[in-house]
Amino acid sequence: MASLGHDVVGIDVDGPKIEALAAGQAPFYEPGLPEFLQAGVATGRLVFDTDMEAARGASMHFLAIGTPQGATGAADLSYLFSAVTTLLPVLRPGTLVVGKSTVPVGVAAQLAVLVESTGARLAWNPEFLREGHAIKDTLEPDRMVYGVRAGDESSVAMLDELYAPILASGVSRMVTDFATAELVKVAANAFLATKISFINAMAEIAEVAGADISQLADALGQDPRIGRRFLNAGLGFGGGCLPKDIRGFISRAEELGVGDALGFLREVESVNLRRRDRVMQLSRDEVGGSLAGVRVAILGLAFKPMSDDVRDSPALDVARRLLDEGADVAAHDPQAIEKARSVVTGPEYIAVLLDAIAGADLLLVLTEWSDYAGLDPVAAASRVRTRTVIDARGCLDADRWHAAGWRVLALGRAVPERATELVAG
Ligand code: UGA
Repeated sequence: MASLGHDVVGIDVDGPKIEALAAGQAPFYEPGLPEFLQAGVATGRLVFDTDMEAARGASMHFLAIGTPQGATGAADLSYLFSAVTTLLPVLRPGTLVVGKSTVPVGVAAQLAVLVESTGARLAWNPEFLREGHAIKDTLEPDRMVYGVRAGDESSVAMLDELYAPILASGVSRMVTDFATAELVKVAANAFLATKISFINAMAEIAEVAGADISQLADALGQDPRIGRRFLNAGLGFGGGCLPKDIRGFISRAEELGVGDALGFLREVESVNLRRRDRVMQLSRDEVGGSLAGVRVAILGLAFKPMSDDVRDSPALDVARRLLDEGADVAAHDPQAIEKARSVVTGPEYIAVLLDAIAGADLLLVLTEWSDYAGLDPVAAASRVRTRTVIDARGCLDADRWHAAGWRVLALGRAVPERATELVAG
């Protein structure tokens, strides 16, 4: 917003986070974000505060508050409602509150009643950015959705003015009611999760039928009605959004008495979790049944590349399961080691890639960082004890690794026959 020329104050209850942001430091890894932060802070158009009074006088107030998964699977809305309650005294008639948080359908209507009691108005304006691409996705979105009260032209005009530099590119912009705007967000994430689980279900078939999942995805993706994006088979989806959003969506549908409509999302989640079971099974099979005492090097901890986020990370879950089965785990990630260490203490975290694989009996590639696709299999071969790699993200050049003497297993492909052992002497 500051880069678009607006004067922005960012408010959070977390004092240390606010201090870091004010110093231009991003609290997480996001390519390009530190530069934007520093530029915004330097111009004076971007300031940070822990006191809601700093929001007084603003014409628009964005709600970008986390709605994490609660104990029952439903979204925990306590942070959102607490922030809005604190915001109410600083609202004035004519100001606009803009909801960005991902919420169960129906919440915007509840918040609107609170906001309108002050003479201000509410709009629901979901965001669709991906971690790792946050800046581009924000400044060059696929679409804009404004959920407003019927006939609220004034809020639409305020949003149009705010986003004028973005709208100038001709991006599609839809005006809807609150419920539709809320649903666009969760329905989009549910669809993406379904697409990933669809290809992962095909991977299960490919593994027993002897087909190649990446070729299958390429061929399917040629059909423009299907599309190739989000059709990468592998260890499945994780992160702070897709897993909790589908659980929250199921829970909300049940509350609304239409739980059956989203019954398929339970299967989407089961397929997703079965990929981790498959990696565990392959790992056990490769080492003769028991992982106890086996040195396993895992490459990747973040839920996806270009992020240091380990929330609901499939890679970190595999690390945990390996530890539970007694494996001796060495773990590498280009960005996520610190965050992983704060939640799972068992692995030996090693920052230098070739050191992380030293002495490994088994190598697992669990996040498709370019560092791993670019790893030289000959150099890697000289460091491990056993040349076996399980590529759980389909990111290695299997022929190259094979040529360097590696036994290469991948999700979505049949397990290769074991070569006849050459016994010396
Ligand atoms: C997701 C959505 O893509 C965004 O549109 C949405 O705004 C965001 O959630 C949110 O709700 O805030 P994000 O969580 O950053 O974005 O990550 P994705 O790029 O969607 O990836 C999610 C997971 O799916 C990752 O674990 C990734 O490895 C996995 N994935 C993705 C696959 O396994 N296969 C694919 O083909 C694509």
